[in-house]
Amino acid sequence: MATHLHRLLPLLLFLPSLLFRHSTSPQHTQHAATDAGDDDPAADLDPVVLLPGNTCSQLEARLTDAYQPPSPQCGAEKGTGRWFLLWKNATAMQDPGAAACVADQLRLVYDPAARDFRNLPGVETRVVGFGSTRGFLADTPADRDLCMGALVDALERAGYRDGATLFGAPYDFRQAPAARSQPCRAFSRFTRQFKALVESASSGNGGKPVVVVSHSQGGYFALEFLNRSPPAWRRRYVKRYIMASTGPGGFLLSVQTLAADPSTAVSIPSLFMALPSPKVFGPETPMVVTRARNYSAHDVPAFLAALGLPPLAATLYETRALPVKLGFRAPLVPTTCVNGVGVPTMEQLVYWDGNFSETPGVVYSGGDDGGDGLLALASILALDTVVGDDPRQEEYKSIKLAGTSHAGVVSDGHALERVVGEIMRVHTELESQSPAA
Ligand SMILES: *[C@@H]1O[C@H](CO)[C@@H](O)[C@H](O)[C@H]1NC(C)=O
Ligand SMILES: *[C@@H]1O[C@H](CO)[C@@H](O)[C@H](O)[C@H]1NC(C)=O
Ligand SMILES: *[C@@H]1O[C@H](CO)[C@@H](O)[C@H](O)[C@H]1NC(C)=O
Repeated sequence: MATHLHRLLPLLLFLPSLLFRHSTSPQHTQHAATDAGDDDPAADLDPVVLLPGNTCSQLEARLTDAYQPPSPQCGAEKGTGRWFLLWKNATAMQDPGAAACVADQLRLVYDPAARDFRNLPGVETRVVGFGSTRGFLADTPADRDLCMGALVDALERAGYRDGATLFGAPYDFRQAPAARSQPCRAFSRFTRQFKALVESASSGNGGKPVVVVSHSQGGYFALEFLNRSPPAWRRRYVKRYIMASTGPGGFLLSVQTLAADPSTAVSIPSLFMALPSPKVFGPETPMVVTRARNYSAHDVPAFLAALGLPPLAATLYETRALPVKLGFRAPLVPTTCVNGVGVPTMEQLVYWDGNFSETPGVVYSGGDDGGDGLLALASILALDTVVGDDPRQEEYKSIKLAGTSHAGVVSDGHALERVVGEIMRVHTELESQSPAA
């Protein structure tokens, strides 16, 4: 079965199942279609561009002769020139031999000469269906809900049409934006494609600015894109940014993933982006507890060394990931943050004997101190200061949904109503910083 993949790509696989544990209701509410009226219902709609979370974009691969397969089976596609589905290929993941190939071909490596991450030699990849929400992963009900399928349905019921008023921006979720001083071809490519998509969504809709909606990891890409775009471009093209289930603090599950398989540190750059961030967590807040010493979000380099990783890992963290994490800031376009709260969430990992191969003890916070099941409450509340209190951020609204999970924010009926309401602005325009729902 997929156990091999589980070992190699834990983050990719256990996120979706974990996130659904606390989801309250899998069914979706009907939305009354807005009264768009007349013959062209799209005329009243602001164009919308969606960015899904981790693992929700599909990737195709093609293998050249340069690929060195770990088994003959993995080399079957070498030199055929055929693009095949790499992620998420459910058929391949059911066969242990093929699953090992998927894991190998999904791996990224750091190329010191290029100072950038790239695919293994001989592996070429591309995102499926850029521009459309049809490219988002939807092959199981759980994937569909995690990957904005329920939100797409709700928007279509409200009159939106894929390719006309509704657009999707899938991206290579293994990658992450890197510090500006570092080459990052993946993020540069995303930036070019996303900018062109927003501009064409606008021009196809009478020049109206677009509503950008991200979920989870999509928020790192969208926010970094916005913050690197010229202010005049943002004002012209972005009517509102709706950031669902993202916070400036990262999350602890990434630490557990890293401890379980330290090689992910140098093969999945998006993992560093997800680590608990010193932007939110102080040096006296331990994320990892051992008998000998504790590690806070400020001790990531020491933690990487304790995992036995070479100094390159800490260098990549400090030069590529950390500056982006510390640079999480207000996008200076009207912004609504939507987050679940009040769900039991990991706060601390205990590896008492300092053996990081063991299953850790986990300290959870719940009740009023709970986050969204993935993001700690501190990370969610930090949005109100990091984004909301920035004097240059003219409009900021926070919607905190009690008892809603990380994925529930884009799939539970009551949450969808709020998110769609924000997109269509059925709520009052000037409401700001509304507290828990
Ligand atoms: C899924 O992967 C298998 C290899 O295990 C490949 O033969 C198949 O073509 C892939 N599916 C698609 C739709 O590309
Ligand atoms: C580590 O953190 C725990 C829990 O916060 C605390 O009780 C303990 O004293 C700390 N240990 C060290 C060595 O600082
Ligand atoms: C650490 O834990 C793993 C898994 O339980 C075990 O196999 C290994 O022997 C332990 N290492 C040490 C040094 O105790």
